[in-house]
Amino acid sequence: ETGHLDLILDRYKDKITTCPKEKGWVSENMYMYQGFWHISNNEFSVQTTMAMQDTYKAHPTDIYLITLPKSGTTWMKALMFAIVNRARYKGNPLSSHPLLINNPHKCVPFLETKIFKNTPTYVDDECSPRLFATHIPHISLPQSILDSGCRIVYMSRNPKDVLVSLFHFTNKLRDESRARMPFDEAFELFTKGVSPYGPYWDHVKGYYNMSLEYSENILFLTYEDMKEDTLNKVKHLAKFLGYPFTNDEEASGAVDEIVRLCSFKTLSEANKHGNLREGVPNDAFFREGKVGDWTSHLTDEMSVILNKITREKFCGHPISQ
Ligand code: A3P
Repeated sequence: ETGHLDLILDRYKDKITTCPKEKGWVSENMYMYQGFWHISNNEFSVQTTMAMQDTYKAHPTDIYLITLPKSGTTWMKALMFAIVNRARYKGNPLSSHPLLINNPHKCVPFLETKIFKNTPTYVDDECSPRLFATHIPHISLPQSILDSGCRIVYMSRNPKDVLVSLFHFTNKLRDESRARMPFDEAFELFTKGVSPYGPYWDHVKGYYNMSLEYSENILFLTYEDMKEDTLNKVKHLAKFLGYPFTNDEEASGAVDEIVRLCSFKTLSEANKHGNLREGVPNDAFFREGKVGDWTSHLTDEMSVILNKITREKFCGHPISQ
């Protein structure tokens, strides 16, 4: 089967030569496709995006999480997995929960890696609903995902924390042969829109608009809101996903249990050791888990520049309210 997939991807290899190229944050290059910078490594590539646009068929019962990298993907993967599968693990000792044994990225795979790379995951293919994540920008999202009527959760995070988180994460993952990217350079690239699946603002705005258009199918969340009122947001999320908590569950503390299971503290403990894949330690996805860590990295001048860009990009848009 993998050979077959390689053949499909091969079809798109030549197209990439016409894509504009920029320096990558982890691997050498990023490529611009349909106005966004796509990363390029063993698992993610423009070819994969193109192949998915042409061939991917979503199921109406699928659930998708869409984010920009470093917006809280790992956290949301855990929450969505725990909510949707809670009946399966009821009665089991909590210590045997898959999220305490597997990285959340194994429990909820990226669409790109699961479909086109056959990366081993914890979940089996028969699992329903299928839970997938992706970073693909709205403009490149396979049409079948929208047409299927399935549920999509988009999670955004403030650009300054995304930048800081990205800076730490990508430096951790960079090949030893490449020097660490200084923060100044990361800032420069990010403001120019040259970040994984960036420009940041276009990604967020694109999905915000889409969530207005497909309001029944797309839930737009922010990392900051999730942090501020996790319990109520988790209840809302469960309802949106079609797995609402019953009154009995609420009374017996089932929501709190899921919040605790997926908390930064619990998950970072569970992911202290081992690798997700070669060169990607499990603990790379857990750093501070806070809102506003940017204050310890950005100078006042940098903050003013980012505010200005955000104001201009979101000017007159409901997202700025
Ligand atoms: P920081 O680098 O600011 O700490 P992603 O999962 O999209 O790669 O995002 C990673 C960011 O989410 C990191 O932010 C990480 O610490 C934070 N994070 C990971 N797990 C979390 C959790 N359970 N709760 C809150 N934040 C979490």
